[in-house]
Amino acid sequence: RLNWGGLRGRGVWRYRELLPEPGNTVTMGEGATPLIRLRGHGNAYVKFEGANPTGSFKDRGMTVGVSLALSIGVKGVIVASTGNTAASAAAYAARAGLECLVVLPKGGVAKGKLGQAMLHGAKIAEVPGTFDNALEYVLEAVLSDGRVNNVNYYPLNSINPWRLEGQKTIAYEIVEEIGVPDYVFVPVGNGGNIYAIWKGFRELVDFGVIDRVPKMIGVQASGAAPMVRYWRGLGEARIDNPRTVASAIRIGRPINWFRAYRAVKYSGGEFIEVSDDEILMAQRMLGREGIGVEPASAASLAGYLKALGEGMVDAGDKVVLIATGHALKDPDTLLMNSNVNMVSVSSLDELRSLIVAQEPGI
Ligand code: F0G
Repeated sequence: RLNWGGLRGRGVWRYRELLPEPGNTVTMGEGATPLIRLRGHGNAYVKFEGANPTGSFKDRGMTVGVSLALSIGVKGVIVASTGNTAASAAAYAARAGLECLVVLPKGGVAKGKLGQAMLHGAKIAEVPGTFDNALEYVLEAVLSDGRVNNVNYYPLNSINPWRLEGQKTIAYEIVEEIGVPDYVFVPVGNGGNIYAIWKGFRELVDFGVIDRVPKMIGVQASGAAPMVRYWRGLGEARIDNPRTVASAIRIGRPINWFRAYRAVKYSGGEFIEVSDDEILMAQRMLGREGIGVEPASAASLAGYLKALGEGMVDAGDKVVLIATGHALKDPDTLLMNSNVNMVSVSSLDELRSLIVAQEPGI
């Protein structure tokens, strides 16, 4: 029986009673991320997953998934990725002494993430097309009849249930800190994370810790919004040429579409879309509050602002925005979107004039 009040430690493994227990634990202090109250926008908090060891929520899943991979004695792990999964898998595999093969859409991965995969010693394969093609390659390579057939390289994409178990701890941390929110906004790519978070809340309802789940709002970029399409009854949850500045969620065929659908449907939530301009604006707004997120993560705030504007949520509603990844992940977009002119200074007087006359760069 769960002793919710008697939990010890911090981060993902604080909730070990609610997680699978592999024989080895490969951990780097993931989880226990800050929940930061937003200034000036209703009653909203940002769950800053950029504070994880490799800078995204993926670490919560990898600590569980890679622990399991190590325990079952595989040679390495394999993932298809838009970048963050690759960075996280590479780091945790390195920590565990396992090999890591990452399969990436050529030209579709932000530089920080690519650099991390390289730094941590992953083998990197690029495939033509989008993430969807990369994932298809990986699944073809490791599965037959829907079962893992390759015992050398353990697949750690978000179809892997152990990864999602780790990610559900986002919900536990939120509840411990502020109770049940009214809404949780989550950027959706493959749909694994929104499902994992919902599952975390639901378990706490089952355990009698809380009495309801928050409404889960899945936010997609309008050029890559297969879940919105399906939600509105416009066809299957797939589109052919996903396009968005938010490369992390540039996904046309979400593998966890049904899980994501269930999370949103049974929580009474909604799938919504936001434009790239809205995403970039939200990234700048968070930046000016000291919170540095990558574009995909800014989709949560963009979605919240839209929902406020349309009256879908009230300013008084308690809302959590999941900020999935760190700003440094995508330095190109960061520089493009920052909009600040640098001034050259070649004398002390010029520097003094800046101190007197500096305008905030907005
Ligand atoms: N935000 C960020 C920063 C991500 O990297 C991802 C997914 C998501 C949101 C969406 O989460 O797929 O569970 O719905 N990134 C994967 C990757 C696809 O390969 O790093 P999801």
